[in-house]
Formats: sequence, C-alpha cells, structure tokens
Amino acid sequence: MPVSRSPVSSVRLVDHLGEDHLRRALEHDVRTGLTATPKHLPPKWFYDARGSDLFSRITRLPEYYPTRRETAILREHAGDIAARAAAGTLVELGSGTSEKTTLLLDALTAKGLAAYTPVDVDATTLLSAARRLGIRYPGLTVQPVRADFEHQLAGLPRSTPRMTAFLGGTIGNLDPAARRAFLGALRATMSRGDTFLLGADLVKDTGRLVAAYDDAAGVTAEFNRNVLHVINHELDADFVPDDFAHVARYDETAGWIEMRLRATRPMRVRVRALGLEVSFADGEQMRTEISAKFRLPGLRAELTAAGLAVDHIYTDPAGDFALVLARA
Ligand code: SAH
Ligand code: AVI
Repeated sequence: MPVSRSPVSSVRLVDHLGEDHLRRALEHDVRTGLTATPKHLPPKWFYDARGSDLFSRITRLPEYYPTRRETAILREHAGDIAARAAAGTLVELGSGTSEKTTLLLDALTAKGLAAYTPVDVDATTLLSAARRLGIRYPGLTVQPVRADFEHQLAGLPRSTPRMTAFLGGTIGNLDPAARRAFLGALRATMSRGDTFLLGADLVKDTGRLVAAYDDAAGVTAEFNRNVLHVINHELDADFVPDDFAHVARYDETAGWIEMRLRATRPMRVRVRALGLEVSFADGEQMRTEISAKFRLPGLRAELTAAGLAVDHIYTDPAGDFALVLARA
C-alpha cells in the first residue's frame, strides 16, 4: 500500500488538554495540595519545557541508571518485542523526547508499523520529538497528542494491533490506587491482539536508589524545585524556589522513593491567581513525587489484576530494570 508522505512541517499537535483544561487541572491540584496536611503536589507539573529539559539532563547523570538500563534492554530485545507484538500502531504514553523510542521504532517499522502517536503533557517537547521522528521515519504517520494519560486514554488511537508503550518507569510515579485505575482504564481500551510494553524500575540497594534521586551535581534538586517555578509562572505565585531544599528518601515499607521540598525558613506564599495564601513552617516538607520500585511478582500481580496477561519479561543483566510485554 502506498504511504503518503506529508512534509514534516505539517506535523501538528492534537490537543486533548487545551490551555483551559490544563489551567483548571493545575488550579485544582495546587489548591488541593497546598491546603492539605501534609502538603503535596503531583509530579506531572514538573514538566514544562524547562522541566523536560532538566529531566533529559537527569537521564545522562552517572547516578541515574534507569534510562541506561532500559536502553540496554531495548537494544538487546527490541527485535523480539517487535516480532511478538507485530503492531501496526504504537502509542507511547509520557513519551518526552522519545529518545529510546527509536530503538523500538527501528524494530517495529521493520515489522510493518504504520503509525506512531507520542502522548505527553508538555507540548514543546512533544512537538519537537514528533518533528524529529517524522524526518527519521518518512514512511511513518507521526501524530503527537497532548493528553493526560491518567484521564484521557479513551480518546487515543484504537487501530489494532496496537502497542501501548509506557517507558522509563513512569508508572512508578503513580501511587498504587492510581496505578490500579490507570491499568484498568488502559485495559478497557485494548482489543485482542493489542499489547502493552511497560518499563519498571526494580527494588535494589537503597544507596543506589537514593543517589539516583539526589545526584551530586544537583540536577534532580533543580528538577524538583521546577514545580515551584511552574506555579509562580502559571498562577502568579511568589515562591522563592531556592529557599526550598531538595529531599529524596527511600521508604522501604512502601517500596518507593519519595521526593519532597523542605522549607528552609518560615514563609508565607501567595498564589495570586487562586486568591490563596499559604504558610510553611521552618523545616516543613511537601511531597512532590513518589517513584515506586517493583519486584517482578508484584508487578505481574498488578497487571494480572487489571486483566493483562504477561507475555514476556526482559531485564538487564544486573537486574536493575524490567520491560514487561503484556497482552489484552
Ligand atoms: N518516556 C520518557 C520520559 C519519561 S519522563 C523516558 O522514558 O525517558 C515522564 C514524561 O511523562 C514527561 O515527558 C512528562 O511530561 C510526562 N507526563 C507526566 N505525567 C503525565 C500525564 N499525567 N499525562 C501525560 N504525560 C505525562
Ligand atoms: C519520569 N520518572 C520515571 C522519573 C523517575 O525516576 O521517577 C522522574 C524523576 N524524578 C526524579 N528523577 C527522575
């Protein structure tokens, strides 16, 4: 079948969020999180263009092993994954720069992949990744979608056989209830023959885990504080980000890294767009992210409970990271 080649400049974003929707969601999360005890903010607001750039820098840090490990797994096994999935469409959730995705795309296009839909909340990074991939894979239809993977899976492409990829261990940024909801919602969009490729970071030595989230160069600290820059910019708030210290702890019972911001002095912060004023006590900590670490039996059980059958599990030789291929 002839493939229509559209000029790369014609890559346009399909926006399921829209500025209004995004703004209302941010307002809701900030009001809820800053008036709660203890205070908390969801991690999706790290990712404006600066936050995505900081995350890219994190992926290259010596302490941050997940990206390198997942890349190694894809290098070794993308051919096998593509042969098992035989996907016509790839939808990637939380795609960011789609850097590792080229390993998957090389293998999937060799097996007949026709369309790639990267999905992310950060429009800038999404669009530049889609344009880059449009040039690299001229026969592939690349259609970026700005959407929230926690709430908007139903509107994503359904053409089957479809592979949905969720790489990087981003599933660990959802708490167990949110993971259950996410996996159930994803399963509801899948048909027979569709697959789910999930990247998950595995439990390991606590020292290595903590170092990965508290690097010597301070890039993760700046990434953590970026959520305050986003709130200042979007909601006319007056946080002084540098007056918050970066905290990364491993909670062994929960099995997750918890990132927090700690107020280094008492302060009052105004969020003018919300007419909200909140105070922080000296030393008060606000949770900004969890990053869950998995054991394979637990991960398998979560997928099975959502109605997803594990087809194959790939790990790196050190057993640091897993890629799970599951089926509807
Ligand atoms: N998959 C890439 C990027 C991981 S960083 C990798 O493995 O390196 C997490 C990505 O998910 C960011 O690009 C962020 O913007 C996106 N993201 C976070 N929460 C999201 C949400 N609720 N909906 C859609 N994208 C989200
Ligand atoms: C995107 N996500 C998988 C990263 C993680 O490791 O949880 C986000 C991150 N937070 C701090 N460093 C990286």
